[in-house]
Amino acid sequence: MELITRRDYDAKCEATKEERLGWFRKARYGLFIHYGLFSAPGRGEWLQAQENIPIEEYEKLASSFTPKEGCCDEWCALAKRAGMKYAVLTTRHHEGFSLWDSKVNPYNSVNLGPHRDLVREFTDACRKYGLRIGLYSSLMDWHHPDGGRCAYDFEARRRFTNYLFELNKELLSNYGKIDILWYDMPWPMESSESWDSVNRNNYLRSLQPGLLINNRSKMPEDFGTPEGSINEENRWWEACMTFNGISWGYIDSEQAKPYSHSAQDILRMLRRCSAGGGNLLLNIGPTPDGSVPVEAIAPLEAVGAWLSENGEAAYGEKVKLTPGLAGGNNITDVTISADFKKYYFWNYIWPDNGELVLGGYMDRPKRVYLLSDGRELDFEMRGHSIAVKIPERSPDRHAGIAVIAAEFDKKPEYVFASYYPPIHNGKTYV
Ligand code: GLC
Repeated sequence: MELITRRDYDAKCEATKEERLGWFRKARYGLFIHYGLFSAPGRGEWLQAQENIPIEEYEKLASSFTPKEGCCDEWCALAKRAGMKYAVLTTRHHEGFSLWDSKVNPYNSVNLGPHRDLVREFTDACRKYGLRIGLYSSLMDWHHPDGGRCAYDFEARRRFTNYLFELNKELLSNYGKIDILWYDMPWPMESSESWDSVNRNNYLRSLQPGLLINNRSKMPEDFGTPEGSINEENRWWEACMTFNGISWGYIDSEQAKPYSHSAQDILRMLRRCSAGGGNLLLNIGPTPDGSVPVEAIAPLEAVGAWLSENGEAAYGEKVKLTPGLAGGNNITDVTISADFKKYYFWNYIWPDNGELVLGGYMDRPKRVYLLSDGRELDFEMRGHSIAVKIPERSPDRHAGIAVIAAEFDKKPEYVFASYYPPIHNGKTYV
């Protein structure tokens, strides 16, 4: 492995970053899949550590790990129907069990359990459905003898970082083009130097020139990963969210259902990501046999149907909204095309007075229409407000969130409509 300084590495990555990130910035929406031995007990993916289960005991889960045929196809088919553009699979979670034919980790799904290479099946399925491919790879490992002692034993550290190098090399050498390496949990070591992240990542990038790497190997790399909440960052970011707010790994569907996201929640999250300069990576925890958890199917399909008609409002390069830049109102949110000429108003609550009034716009749009079918809508300017005549009920059949688009000749002037009477450039608008 060629050694490289941090400075040279950063410069090399920076030079190709814009180009590498291009598809990701437009994609906006992906599926996270947490699947592994932890799926069977159904108490979350941390049970080995949290319940202090001895390794020999935990290993027994491997013999009864029985993913049904075609499960990876099922996840990817759903991601496609849901309008997602990429998928990320936990190829080896903290439990240390590899879901592929690893030569360096015999604790894997080809030697044990199903005797199948699930990473192969997953990457094949992603390609079949035209999804970009992300492979999650934990740094922390509860199974490897050096996974804990690497923190204080130099030889253990050398062996363990070498092991991680080999594992990731397999993932990025044997499955064709991979788009994302999604690291997790740099524990127990504290720095990128201890993890030897610069040299490893540099080598892995040489195998996959377009590769995106997340920020969880103690390196900032290509994008941030706010977890469990949608928090805009000052760089590209991807918010990862569980489906039920409780667990990444499978938990009983019946009990999880009331906590689970509706299509409306998902669309609101997606709008927030799209308008905030980030992506949404929404997780499912498949059942022990690899089926999609039933409570996720209908909401994801509804979102997919919605996106097939309104996708333009969510996908693609958008203006990153900052307070005061533009707005909807209390019941309507906005996304804006990168050139500031198209404003997409996502109407969560449909006004029952026959009009949608959007305040703060100092310029008249040239056209206002319903995004799903292009139907023109009559409108007039009322002072600083665009008042749009709307149908009696929300015309959106999928989630009740109809998008009204307004097209402008140029970036409209906008003034945050918070004072009454509104004053702009010394003039009062009523
Ligand atoms: C956390 C958890 C893990 C989960 C991940 C997803 O770091 O350790 O179980 O896979 O977040 O972002």
